[in-house]
Amino acid sequence: MSYNRITAREAAEMIHNGDTLGFSGFTAPGAPKLVTEELAKRAEAEHEAGRPFKVNVLTGASTSDHADGVLARANAINLRAPYQNLPDLRKRINAHDVHYCDRHLSEMAQEVRYGCYGPVDFAIIEAADIQPDGTIILGCGVGNVVTYAALAKKIIIELNHKLPHTLLGMHDLYQPLDPPYRREIAIYSPSDRIGSPVLKVDPAKVVGIVDTDSYDCVKPFTEPDEISKKIGANVVSFLLSEYRRGAIPKEFLPLQSGVGNVANAVLYDLGESTELPPFQMYTEVIQDAVFELLKRGKCKFASSCSMTFSDKVEEELFANMKDFHDKIVLRPAEISNNPEVIRRLGVIAMNTALEADIFGAVNSTHVLGTRMMNGIGGSGDFTRNAYLSIFSCPSVTKGGLISNIVPMVAHADHSEHSVDIIVTDQGIADLRHLDPVQRAECIIENCAHPDYRPLLRDYLRMGAGQTPHTLRAAFAFHNAFSETGDMRNADLGKA
Ligand code: COA
Repeated sequence: MSYNRITAREAAEMIHNGDTLGFSGFTAPGAPKLVTEELAKRAEAEHEAGRPFKVNVLTGASTSDHADGVLARANAINLRAPYQNLPDLRKRINAHDVHYCDRHLSEMAQEVRYGCYGPVDFAIIEAADIQPDGTIILGCGVGNVVTYAALAKKIIIELNHKLPHTLLGMHDLYQPLDPPYRREIAIYSPSDRIGSPVLKVDPAKVVGIVDTDSYDCVKPFTEPDEISKKIGANVVSFLLSEYRRGAIPKEFLPLQSGVGNVANAVLYDLGESTELPPFQMYTEVIQDAVFELLKRGKCKFASSCSMTFSDKVEEELFANMKDFHDKIVLRPAEISNNPEVIRRLGVIAMNTALEADIFGAVNSTHVLGTRMMNGIGGSGDFTRNAYLSIFSCPSVTKGGLISNIVPMVAHADHSEHSVDIIVTDQGIADLRHLDPVQRAECIIENCAHPDYRPLLRDYLRMGAGQTPHTLRAAFAFHNAFSETGDMRNADLGKA
Protein backbone atom coordinates (compact mmCIF):
# COMPACT_ATOMS: atom_id res chain seq x y z
CA MET A 1 0.00 0.00 0.00
CA SER A 2 1.58 3.33 -0.92
CA TYR A 3 0.10 6.71 -0.17
CA ASN A 4 0.84 9.97 -2.06
CA ARG A 5 3.67 12.14 -0.78
CA ILE A 6 2.58 15.78 -0.52
CA THR A 7 4.04 18.92 1.01
CA ALA A 8 2.58 20.50 4.13
CA ARG A 9 1.57 23.45 1.99
CA GLU A 10 -0.34 21.20 -0.43
CA ALA A 11 -2.06 19.59 2.53
CA ALA A 12 -3.04 22.97 3.99
CA GLU A 13 -4.42 24.05 0.62
CA MET A 14 -6.92 21.17 0.68
CA ILE A 15 -8.51 22.55 3.85
CA HIS A 16 -11.34 25.06 3.50
CA ASN A 17 -12.75 27.83 5.65
CA GLY A 18 -15.30 26.25 8.03
CA ASP A 19 -13.85 22.73 7.87
CA THR A 20 -13.75 20.59 10.99
CA LEU A 21 -10.38 18.99 11.72
CA GLY A 22 -9.67 16.15 14.15
CA PHE A 23 -6.07 16.06 15.39
CA SER A 24 -4.30 13.00 16.72
CA GLY A 25 -2.40 13.24 19.98
CA PHE A 26 -2.79 14.22 23.58
CA THR A 27 -0.70 17.11 24.96
CA ALA A 28 2.18 18.01 22.59
CA PRO A 29 3.10 14.40 21.72
CA GLY A 30 1.16 12.89 18.87
CA ALA A 31 -0.30 16.19 17.66
CA PRO A 32 0.32 17.40 14.09
CA LYS A 33 2.96 20.07 13.64
CA LEU A 34 3.81 20.90 10.06
CA VAL A 35 0.40 20.99 8.36
CA THR A 36 -0.92 23.18 11.15
CA GLU A 37 1.96 25.64 10.70
CA GLU A 38 1.18 25.88 6.97
CA LEU A 39 -2.53 26.19 7.74
CA ALA A 40 -1.80 29.17 10.00
CA LYS A 41 0.15 30.83 7.15
CA ARG A 42 -2.74 30.12 4.80
CA ALA A 43 -5.22 31.71 7.24
CA GLU A 44 -3.03 34.81 7.57
CA ALA A 45 -2.84 35.15 3.77
CA GLU A 46 -6.61 34.72 3.45
CA HIS A 47 -7.24 37.32 6.16
CA GLU A 48 -4.88 39.75 4.43
CA ALA A 49 -6.83 39.24 1.22
CA GLY A 50 -10.00 40.15 3.15
CA ARG A 51 -11.45 36.64 3.14
CA PRO A 52 -12.66 34.76 6.23
CA PHE A 53 -10.69 31.66 7.17
CA LYS A 54 -11.29 29.73 10.37
CA VAL A 55 -11.47 26.03 11.10
CA ASN A 56 -12.98 23.95 13.90
CA VAL A 57 -10.29 22.09 15.82
CA LEU A 58 -11.08 18.91 17.74
CA THR A 59 -8.20 17.33 19.63
CA GLY A 60 -7.47 14.81 22.36
CA ALA A 61 -6.33 17.44 24.84
CA SER A 62 -3.78 20.27 24.66
CA THR A 63 -1.43 20.34 21.65
CA SER A 64 1.69 22.46 21.23
CA ASP A 65 2.78 25.77 19.80
CA HIS A 66 3.13 23.99 16.41
CA ALA A 67 -0.68 23.58 16.37
CA ASP A 68 -2.75 25.58 18.88
CA GLY A 69 -0.11 28.29 19.21
CA VAL A 70 0.31 29.17 15.52
CA LEU A 71 -3.39 28.75 14.73
CA ALA A 72 -4.42 30.97 17.65
CA ARG A 73 -1.98 33.72 16.67
CA ALA A 74 -3.33 33.57 13.11
CA ASN A 75 -6.89 33.82 14.51
CA ALA A 76 -7.65 30.70 12.48
CA ILE A 77 -9.78 28.80 15.02
CA ASN A 78 -13.56 29.07 15.12
CA LEU A 79 -14.43 26.25 17.55
CA ARG A 80 -11.97 24.42 19.79
CA ALA A 81 -12.55 21.38 22.02
CA PRO A 82 -11.79 19.81 24.48
CA TYR A 83 -8.65 21.03 26.45
CA GLN A 84 -5.93 23.59 25.81
CA ASN A 85 -3.14 25.16 27.82
CA LEU A 86 -1.34 27.78 25.72
CA PRO A 87 -1.37 31.51 26.54
CA ASP A 88 -2.08 32.63 22.94
CA LEU A 89 -5.11 30.37 22.64
CA ARG A 90 -6.28 31.27 26.16
CA LYS A 91 -6.25 34.96 25.14
CA ARG A 92 -8.38 34.20 22.06
CA ILE A 93 -10.82 32.14 24.14
CA ASN A 94 -11.25 34.82 26.80
CA ALA A 95 -11.71 37.46 24.07
CA HIS A 96 -14.41 35.28 22.42
CA ASP A 97 -12.40 34.99 19.19
CA VAL A 98 -12.60 31.23 19.68
CA HIS A 99 -15.70 29.28 20.74
CA TYR A 100 -14.19 26.97 23.34
CA CYS A 101 -16.15 23.87 24.40
CA ASP A 102 -14.58 22.55 27.59
CA ARG A 103 -15.73 18.91 27.78
CA HIS A 104 -14.71 15.90 29.86
CA LEU A 105 -11.94 14.17 27.89
CA SER A 106 -13.48 10.71 28.20
CA GLU A 107 -16.68 11.93 26.52
CA MET A 108 -15.25 13.85 23.58
CA ALA A 109 -14.90 10.95 21.13
CA GLN A 110 -18.41 9.68 21.72
CA GLU A 111 -19.85 13.19 21.46
CA VAL A 112 -18.22 13.49 18.04
CA ARG A 113 -19.61 10.07 17.07
CA TYR A 114 -23.05 11.12 18.33
CA GLY A 115 -22.87 14.02 15.86
CA CYS A 116 -22.63 16.92 18.34
CA TYR A 117 -19.84 18.59 16.34
CA GLY A 118 -21.13 17.85 12.84
CA PRO A 119 -19.12 15.99 10.23
CA VAL A 120 -15.32 15.72 10.50
CA ASP A 121 -13.73 16.88 7.24
CA PHE A 122 -10.10 15.98 7.92
CA ALA A 123 -8.23 13.84 10.41
CA ILE A 124 -4.61 15.00 10.68
CA ILE A 125 -2.56 12.21 12.17
CA GLU A 126 1.03 12.10 13.37
CA ALA A 127 2.59 8.72 12.57
CA ALA A 128 5.81 7.00 13.58
CA ASP A 129 5.54 4.64 10.63
CA ILE A 130 3.17 3.26 8.03
CA GLN A 131 2.98 -0.51 7.64
CA PRO A 132 2.98 -2.24 4.23
CA ASP A 133 -0.77 -2.89 4.68
CA GLY A 134 -1.46 0.84 5.15
CA THR A 135 -2.04 0.70 8.89
CA ILE A 136 -0.42 3.39 11.01
CA ILE A 137 1.96 3.19 13.98
CA LEU A 138 1.08 6.20 16.10
CA GLY A 139 3.47 8.50 17.95
CA CYS A 140 3.65 9.21 21.69
CA GLY A 141 0.11 10.50 22.19
CA VAL A 142 -3.20 8.93 21.12
CA GLY A 143 -6.13 11.17 22.14
CA ASN A 144 -9.25 10.70 20.02
CA VAL A 145 -7.53 9.70 16.80
CA VAL A 146 -9.36 6.39 16.45
CA THR A 147 -12.71 8.16 16.25
CA TYR A 148 -11.46 11.09 14.14
CA ALA A 149 -9.85 8.72 11.63
CA ALA A 150 -12.99 6.60 11.42
CA LEU A 151 -15.31 9.57 10.88
CA ALA A 152 -13.18 11.90 8.76
CA LYS A 153 -13.93 12.30 5.08
CA LYS A 154 -10.19 12.68 4.37
CA ILE A 155 -7.00 11.82 6.20
CA ILE A 156 -3.63 13.59 6.13
CA ILE A 157 -0.72 11.76 7.72
CA GLU A 158 2.30 13.56 9.14
CA LEU A 159 5.05 10.96 9.10
CA ASN A 160 7.50 12.08 11.79
CA HIS A 161 10.94 10.63 11.14
CA LYS A 162 12.07 11.53 14.68
CA LEU A 163 9.76 8.77 15.98
CA PRO A 164 11.19 5.22 15.99
CA HIS A 165 9.41 2.28 14.34
CA THR A 166 9.88 0.48 17.63
CA LEU A 167 6.86 2.38 18.96
CA LEU A 168 4.98 -0.53 17.38
CA GLY A 169 3.42 -2.44 20.26
CA MET A 170 3.10 0.49 22.69
CA HIS A 171 -0.48 1.30 21.66
CA ASP A 172 -3.74 -0.47 22.43
CA LEU A 173 -6.39 1.10 20.21
CA TYR A 174 -9.98 0.28 21.00
CA GLN A 175 -13.22 2.07 20.28
CA PRO A 176 -16.36 0.93 22.12
CA LEU A 177 -19.62 0.41 20.27
CA ASP A 178 -22.23 3.08 20.87
CA PRO A 179 -25.39 2.43 22.89
CA PRO A 180 -27.42 0.29 22.85
CA TYR A 181 -24.70 -2.11 21.65
CA ARG A 182 -21.87 -1.14 24.00
CA ARG A 183 -20.43 -3.94 26.12
CA GLU A 184 -18.14 -3.80 29.14
CA ILE A 185 -14.62 -2.53 28.54
CA ALA A 186 -12.65 -5.60 29.50
CA ILE A 187 -9.76 -3.97 31.36
CA TYR A 188 -9.28 -5.58 34.77
CA SER A 189 -5.70 -4.47 35.37
CA PRO A 190 -3.80 -1.42 34.01
CA SER A 191 -1.71 -3.67 31.74
CA ASP A 192 -4.62 -5.48 30.06
CA ARG A 193 -4.78 -5.09 26.29
CA ILE A 194 -8.06 -5.18 24.41
CA GLY A 195 -7.41 -3.52 21.04
CA SER A 196 -5.10 -3.13 18.09
CA PRO A 197 -1.43 -2.05 18.21
CA VAL A 198 -1.89 -0.09 14.96
CA LEU A 199 -4.42 2.41 13.65
CA LYS A 200 -6.51 0.93 10.86
CA VAL A 201 -7.73 3.51 8.36
CA ASP A 202 -9.63 3.36 5.09
CA PRO A 203 -6.79 3.77 2.53
CA ALA A 204 -9.18 5.47 0.09
CA LYS A 205 -9.50 8.40 2.53
CA VAL A 206 -5.76 9.10 2.81
CA VAL A 207 -5.07 12.14 0.63
CA GLY A 208 -1.37 12.32 1.35
CA ILE A 209 1.63 11.86 3.57
CA VAL A 210 3.65 14.85 4.75
CA ASP A 211 7.20 14.11 5.91
CA THR A 212 8.47 15.87 9.02
CA ASP A 213 11.06 15.62 11.74
CA SER A 214 9.68 18.18 14.21
CA TYR A 215 10.18 17.82 17.94
CA ASP A 216 7.38 18.16 20.51
CA CYS A 217 9.50 20.66 22.50
CA VAL A 218 8.29 19.54 25.94
CA LYS A 219 10.29 21.37 28.60
CA PRO A 220 11.85 19.41 31.47
CA PHE A 221 10.39 20.05 34.92
CA THR A 222 11.88 22.64 37.16
CA GLU A 223 12.90 21.38 40.60
CA PRO A 224 9.75 21.52 42.82
CA ASP A 225 9.64 24.61 45.07
CA GLU A 226 9.23 24.43 48.86
CA ILE A 227 5.43 24.71 48.70
CA SER A 228 5.10 21.91 46.11
CA LYS A 229 7.39 19.75 48.26
CA LYS A 230 5.20 20.34 51.34
CA ILE A 231 2.04 19.47 49.38
CA GLY A 232 3.74 16.37 47.97
CA ALA A 233 4.82 15.28 51.45
CA ASN A 234 1.27 15.81 52.79
CA VAL A 235 -0.29 13.72 49.99
CA VAL A 236 2.19 10.93 50.61
CA SER A 237 1.65 11.00 54.37
CA PHE A 238 -2.12 10.76 53.81
CA LEU A 239 -1.72 7.79 51.45
CA LEU A 240 0.64 6.10 53.90
CA SER A 241 -1.79 6.50 56.78
CA GLU A 242 -4.59 5.01 54.64
CA TYR A 243 -2.30 2.16 53.64
CA ARG A 244 -1.24 1.46 57.24
CA ARG A 245 -4.82 1.27 58.46
CA GLY A 246 -5.74 -1.08 55.61
CA ALA A 247 -8.04 1.34 53.78
CA ILE A 248 -5.88 0.83 50.70
CA PRO A 249 -5.22 -2.88 49.93
CA LYS A 250 -1.73 -4.26 50.46
CA GLU A 251 -1.05 -4.50 46.69
CA PHE A 252 -1.83 -0.76 46.59
CA LEU A 253 -4.14 0.72 43.91
CA PRO A 254 -3.40 2.30 40.52
CA LEU A 255 -2.60 6.00 40.65
CA GLN A 256 -3.73 8.81 38.40
CA SER A 257 -1.73 11.96 38.60
CA GLY A 258 -2.50 15.36 37.10
CA VAL A 259 0.04 17.58 35.42
CA GLY A 260 2.41 20.19 36.83
CA ASN A 261 5.02 20.61 39.51
CA VAL A 262 2.86 19.53 42.44
CA ALA A 263 1.98 16.28 40.64
CA ASN A 264 5.66 15.74 39.93
CA ALA A 265 6.58 16.37 43.57
CA VAL A 266 3.94 13.88 44.76
CA LEU A 267 5.24 11.19 42.42
CA TYR A 268 8.81 11.89 43.46
CA ASP A 269 7.89 11.48 47.16
CA LEU A 270 5.89 8.31 46.45
CA GLY A 271 8.96 6.93 44.72
CA GLU A 272 11.12 7.68 47.76
CA SER A 273 8.78 5.99 50.24
CA THR A 274 10.17 2.64 51.34
CA GLU A 275 6.89 1.65 53.01
CA LEU A 276 4.71 1.82 49.92
CA PRO A 277 4.95 -1.17 47.57
CA PRO A 278 5.73 -0.72 43.87
CA PHE A 279 2.55 0.58 42.24
CA GLN A 280 0.85 0.83 38.85
CA MET A 281 -0.61 3.87 37.15
CA TYR A 282 -3.89 4.21 35.27
CA THR A 283 -3.66 7.78 34.12
CA GLU A 284 -3.92 10.05 31.08
CA VAL A 285 -0.43 11.55 30.98
CA ILE A 286 2.91 10.23 32.14
CA GLN A 287 5.71 12.73 32.61
CA ASP A 288 9.43 12.59 33.40
CA ALA A 289 8.89 11.59 37.06
CA VAL A 290 7.04 8.42 36.00
CA PHE A 291 9.82 7.48 33.57
CA GLU A 292 12.29 7.57 36.47
CA LEU A 293 9.95 5.46 38.64
CA LEU A 294 9.51 2.93 35.81
CA LYS A 295 13.29 2.64 35.44
CA ARG A 296 13.68 2.04 39.20
CA GLY A 297 10.85 -0.50 39.29
CA LYS A 298 8.93 1.62 41.84
CA CYS A 299 6.25 2.03 39.19
CA LYS A 300 5.59 -1.41 37.74
CA PHE A 301 3.33 -0.40 34.86
CA ALA A 302 1.75 2.74 33.41
CA SER A 303 -1.39 2.88 31.30
CA SER A 304 -1.69 6.33 29.75
CA CYS A 305 -2.98 8.28 26.77
CA SER A 306 0.31 10.05 26.23
CA MET A 307 3.99 10.00 27.12
CA THR A 308 4.62 13.69 27.70
CA PHE A 309 8.34 13.42 28.27
CA SER A 310 10.88 16.20 27.91
CA ASP A 311 13.03 15.88 24.78
CA LYS A 312 15.94 14.48 26.83
CA VAL A 313 13.84 11.75 28.49
CA GLU A 314 12.16 10.94 25.18
CA GLU A 315 15.59 10.42 23.62
CA GLU A 316 16.48 7.98 26.42
CA LEU A 317 13.19 6.13 25.95
CA PHE A 318 13.68 5.82 22.18
CA ALA A 319 17.20 4.46 22.68
CA ASN A 320 15.88 1.79 25.07
CA MET A 321 12.41 1.06 23.72
CA LYS A 322 12.65 -2.69 24.24
CA ASP A 323 12.92 -2.18 28.02
CA PHE A 324 9.60 -0.34 28.12
CA HIS A 325 7.29 -2.38 25.91
CA ASP A 326 6.11 -4.39 28.89
CA LYS A 327 5.89 -1.32 31.14
CA ILE A 328 3.77 1.21 29.21
CA VAL A 329 0.59 1.08 27.16
CA LEU A 330 -0.93 4.05 25.32
CA ARG A 331 -4.71 4.10 24.95
CA PRO A 332 -7.35 6.38 23.42
CA ALA A 333 -8.64 9.07 25.83
CA GLU A 334 -12.03 7.37 25.83
CA ILE A 335 -10.36 4.36 27.49
CA SER A 336 -7.53 5.93 29.53
CA ASN A 337 -10.17 8.15 31.20
CA ASN A 338 -13.08 5.76 31.11
CA PRO A 339 -15.35 6.05 34.19
CA GLU A 340 -16.24 2.33 34.09
CA VAL A 341 -12.59 1.27 34.16
CA ILE A 342 -11.53 3.91 36.71
CA ARG A 343 -14.28 2.77 39.10
CA ARG A 344 -13.47 -0.94 38.55
CA LEU A 345 -9.72 -0.59 39.09
CA GLY A 346 -10.14 1.62 42.18
CA VAL A 347 -7.91 4.38 40.88
CA ILE A 348 -6.50 6.90 43.37
CA ALA A 349 -6.93 10.26 41.63
CA MET A 350 -4.65 13.19 42.41
CA ASN A 351 -5.44 16.47 40.69
CA THR A 352 -4.71 20.15 41.14
CA ALA A 353 -7.25 22.85 41.99
CA LEU A 354 -7.11 26.57 41.32
CA GLU A 355 -9.30 27.09 44.38
CA ALA A 356 -11.47 25.04 46.72
CA ASP A 357 -14.22 26.25 48.98
CA ILE A 358 -14.76 25.51 52.64
CA PHE A 359 -17.49 22.98 51.81
CA GLY A 360 -15.31 21.02 49.38
CA ALA A 361 -16.28 22.25 45.89
CA VAL A 362 -13.35 22.76 43.51
CA ASN A 363 -12.63 25.21 40.71
CA SER A 364 -10.06 23.80 38.26
CA THR A 365 -10.70 26.05 35.31
CA HIS A 366 -11.74 29.68 35.81
CA VAL A 367 -9.47 32.32 37.31
CA LEU A 368 -11.63 34.48 39.60
CA GLY A 369 -14.69 32.77 38.15
CA THR A 370 -14.57 34.24 34.65
CA ARG A 371 -11.26 33.79 32.82
CA MET A 372 -10.60 30.34 31.36
CA MET A 373 -7.24 28.90 32.39
CA ASN A 374 -6.90 25.51 30.64
CA GLY A 375 -10.04 23.43 30.94
CA ILE A 376 -11.36 20.56 33.01
CA GLY A 377 -9.21 17.99 31.20
CA GLY A 378 -9.50 14.55 32.71
CA SER A 379 -9.93 15.80 36.26
CA GLY A 380 -13.71 15.24 36.19
CA ASP A 381 -13.41 11.78 34.63
CA PHE A 382 -11.12 10.64 37.43
CA THR A 383 -12.49 12.61 40.38
CA ARG A 384 -16.06 11.44 40.06
CA ASN A 385 -15.13 7.76 39.68
CA ALA A 386 -12.01 7.25 41.74
CA TYR A 387 -11.55 5.11 44.84
CA LEU A 388 -10.06 8.22 46.46
CA SER A 389 -10.28 11.70 44.91
CA ILE A 390 -7.58 14.02 46.13
CA PHE A 391 -7.26 17.69 45.15
CA SER A 392 -4.23 19.70 46.06
CA CYS A 393 -3.20 23.34 45.71
CA PRO A 394 -1.06 25.84 47.59
CA SER A 395 -3.00 27.52 50.44
CA VAL A 396 -2.27 30.94 48.93
CA THR A 397 -1.18 32.30 45.55
CA LYS A 398 0.55 35.54 44.45
CA GLY A 399 2.48 35.89 47.70
CA GLY A 400 -0.65 35.61 49.85
CA LEU A 401 -2.82 38.12 47.95
CA ILE A 402 -5.10 35.25 46.89
CA SER A 403 -6.42 32.56 49.22
CA ASN A 404 -7.00 29.31 47.36
CA ILE A 405 -9.45 28.33 50.09
CA VAL A 406 -12.47 30.61 49.70
CA PRO A 407 -16.01 30.79 51.10
CA MET A 408 -17.56 29.72 47.78
CA VAL A 409 -15.73 28.78 44.58
CA ALA A 410 -16.31 31.35 41.85
CA HIS A 411 -16.76 28.51 39.34
CA ALA A 412 -17.61 24.91 40.26
CA ASP A 413 -16.02 22.07 38.28
CA HIS A 414 -16.12 19.39 40.96
CA SER A 415 -18.83 19.43 43.59
CA GLU A 416 -18.41 18.47 47.22
CA HIS A 417 -20.15 15.17 46.35
CA SER A 418 -17.10 14.06 44.34
CA VAL A 419 -14.15 15.53 46.26
CA ASP A 420 -12.83 13.28 49.05
CA ILE A 421 -9.60 14.90 50.22
CA ILE A 422 -8.14 18.41 50.00
CA VAL A 423 -4.43 18.93 50.55
CA THR A 424 -2.45 22.15 50.75
CA ASP A 425 0.98 23.04 52.07
CA GLN A 426 -0.76 23.60 55.46
CA GLY A 427 -2.17 20.09 55.79
CA ILE A 428 -4.82 17.53 54.86
CA ALA A 429 -8.63 17.62 55.07
CA ASP A 430 -10.29 14.21 54.76
CA LEU A 431 -13.89 15.13 53.92
CA ARG A 432 -15.41 11.67 53.73
CA HIS A 433 -18.06 11.03 56.38
CA LEU A 434 -18.27 14.74 57.34
CA ASP A 435 -21.35 16.94 57.06
CA PRO A 436 -20.97 20.39 55.44
CA VAL A 437 -20.19 22.31 58.65
CA GLN A 438 -17.69 19.66 59.78
CA ARG A 439 -16.11 19.77 56.32
CA ALA A 440 -15.78 23.54 56.53
CA GLU A 441 -14.18 23.38 59.97
CA CYS A 442 -11.80 20.67 58.78
CA ILE A 443 -10.76 22.58 55.65
CA ILE A 444 -10.35 25.92 57.44
CA GLU A 445 -8.26 24.50 60.29
CA ASN A 446 -6.14 22.12 58.19
CA CYS A 447 -5.81 23.63 54.71
CA ALA A 448 -6.39 27.41 54.79
CA HIS A 449 -3.45 29.74 55.29
CA PRO A 450 -3.38 31.14 58.87
CA ASP A 451 -3.84 34.71 57.49
CA TYR A 452 -7.24 33.71 56.12
CA ARG A 453 -8.54 31.42 58.86
CA PRO A 454 -10.24 34.17 60.98
CA LEU A 455 -12.13 35.51 57.94
CA LEU A 456 -13.21 32.02 56.90
CA ARG A 457 -14.35 31.19 60.46
CA ASP A 458 -16.38 34.43 60.51
CA TYR A 459 -17.98 33.49 57.19
CA LEU A 460 -18.92 30.04 58.46
CA ARG A 461 -20.52 31.50 61.61
CA MET A 462 -22.66 33.92 59.55
CA GLY A 463 -24.73 31.33 57.69
CA ALA A 464 -27.63 29.01 58.45
CA GLY A 465 -29.02 25.81 56.93
CA GLN A 466 -27.39 22.48 56.03
CA THR A 467 -24.71 24.24 53.95
CA PRO A 468 -24.45 27.61 55.68
CA HIS A 469 -23.55 29.92 52.83
CA THR A 470 -24.36 33.63 53.08
CA LEU A 471 -24.95 34.51 49.45
CA ARG A 472 -24.37 38.26 49.77
CA ALA A 473 -20.91 37.57 51.27
CA ALA A 474 -20.00 34.41 49.36
CA PHE A 475 -17.70 36.25 46.92
CA ALA A 476 -16.31 38.81 49.36
CA PHE A 477 -12.80 37.37 48.89
CA HIS A 478 -12.99 37.61 45.09
CA ASN A 479 -14.49 41.10 45.22
CA ALA A 480 -11.76 42.25 47.58
CA PHE A 481 -9.10 40.98 45.18
CA SER A 482 -10.75 42.66 42.19
CA GLU A 483 -11.16 45.95 44.05
CA THR A 484 -8.02 46.13 46.20
CA GLY A 485 -5.68 43.44 44.84
CA ASP A 486 -5.69 41.56 48.17
CA MET A 487 -8.24 39.01 49.41
CA ARG A 488 -7.23 39.79 53.01
CA ASN A 489 -9.26 43.00 52.65
CA ALA A 490 -12.51 41.01 52.32
CA ASP A 491 -15.31 42.78 54.18
CA LEU A 492 -17.96 40.16 54.97
CA GLY A 493 -20.31 42.74 56.48
CA LYS A 494 -20.10 45.08 53.51
CA ALA A 495 -20.38 42.29 50.97
N1 COA B 1 -7.13 32.59 41.76
C1 COA B 1 -6.56 33.28 40.76
N2 COA B 1 -5.43 32.87 40.12
C2 COA B 1 -4.89 31.72 40.54
C3 COA B 1 -5.43 30.94 41.57
C4 COA B 1 -6.60 31.43 42.20
N3 COA B 1 -7.17 30.76 43.20
N4 COA B 1 -4.66 29.86 41.75
C5 COA B 1 -3.67 29.92 40.85
N5 COA B 1 -3.80 31.06 40.13
C6 COA B 1 -2.92 31.52 39.06
C7 COA B 1 -1.45 31.35 39.41
O1 COA B 1 -0.96 32.47 40.11
C8 COA B 1 -0.83 31.22 38.04
O2 COA B 1 -0.80 32.50 37.45
P1 COA B 1 0.43 32.98 36.54
O3 COA B 1 0.26 32.19 35.27
O4 COA B 1 0.18 34.45 36.40
O5 COA B 1 1.66 32.64 37.32
C9 COA B 1 -1.88 30.40 37.28
O6 COA B 1 -3.12 30.63 37.96
C10 COA B 1 -1.59 28.90 37.26
O7 COA B 1 -1.35 28.50 38.58
P2 COA B 1 -0.28 27.36 38.92
O8 COA B 1 -0.24 27.24 40.42
O9 COA B 1 0.99 27.61 38.21
O10 COA B 1 -1.05 26.14 38.30
P3 COA B 1 -0.61 24.68 37.92
O11 COA B 1 0.40 24.66 36.86
O12 COA B 1 -0.35 23.89 39.14
O13 COA B 1 -2.02 24.20 37.27
C11 COA B 1 -4.37 24.04 37.06
C12 COA B 1 -3.19 24.25 38.03
C13 COA B 1 -5.61 23.89 37.91
C14 COA B 1 -4.51 25.25 36.13
C15 COA B 1 -4.06 22.74 36.23
O14 COA B 1 -3.82 21.66 37.08
C16 COA B 1 -5.21 22.39 35.30
O15 COA B 1 -5.29 22.86 34.19
N6 COA B 1 -6.14 21.52 35.78
C17 COA B 1 -7.30 21.12 35.02
C18 COA B 1 -7.02 19.91 34.20
C19 COA B 1 -6.66 18.72 35.03
O16 COA B 1 -6.83 18.70 36.24
N7 COA B 1 -6.19 17.69 34.41
C20 COA B 1 -5.88 16.51 35.21
C21 COA B 1 -5.64 15.33 34.49
S1 COA B 1 -3.98 15.48 33.75
